Amino acid sequence: MAAVPFRVGFGEDAHRLEAGLPLVLGGVPVPDAELGAVAHSDGDAVLHAVADALLSGLALGDIGQYFPDTAAEWKGMDSRVILAKALELVRGRGYAPVNVAVVVTLDKPKLGPLRAEIAASVARLLNLPPSEVGLSFKTSEGLAPRHVQTRVTVLLGSIEG
Ligand code: C5P
Ligand code: MG
Repeated sequence: MAAVPFRVGFGEDAHRLEAGLPLVLGGVPVPDAELGAVAHSDGDAVLHAVADALLSGLALGDIGQYFPDTAAEWKGMDSRVILAKALELVRGRGYAPVNVAVVVTLDKPKLGPLRAEIAASVARLLNLPPSEVGLSFKTSEGLAPRHVQTRVTVLLGSIEG
């Protein structure tokens, strides 16, 4: 692969929501969530999409290849481990994230009050300043009330020379 100064990545994730489960987004537990993510891991749809975006920028596949959701050892796992692995693979190829743009579609609760906390958490995990983490929150307008969906673009910059 010829070295280019920048590469773009895109990731997506969705989880079904059910009562009585925790909702964690970007490493931050959402305090007022009546519904939480049904998942093999902790179901953090933001970190899963960020990790896939990182991998996609270098055509390294997706997180399911590194953390199969059939493997008992990954049950209930902290998604920060998944993100750390994706980051390590990207760095191993000589790139690091420059900025990320995250769109979360969730009807309830409102995430606006958590924007700074989620941005700080994602930024910390990516070793970026919070100013490089853009967060947009959208409802599904009632079309998918038991569903969380996340889409992420990332710009990767060469860290060589
Ligand atoms: O989806 P919609 O455009 O109706 O969302 C209106 C606004 O509500 C968004 O621009 C966002 O600021 C906020 N929002 C939020 N948390 C959500 C969904 C939307 O803070 N879960
Ligand atoms: Mg997921």
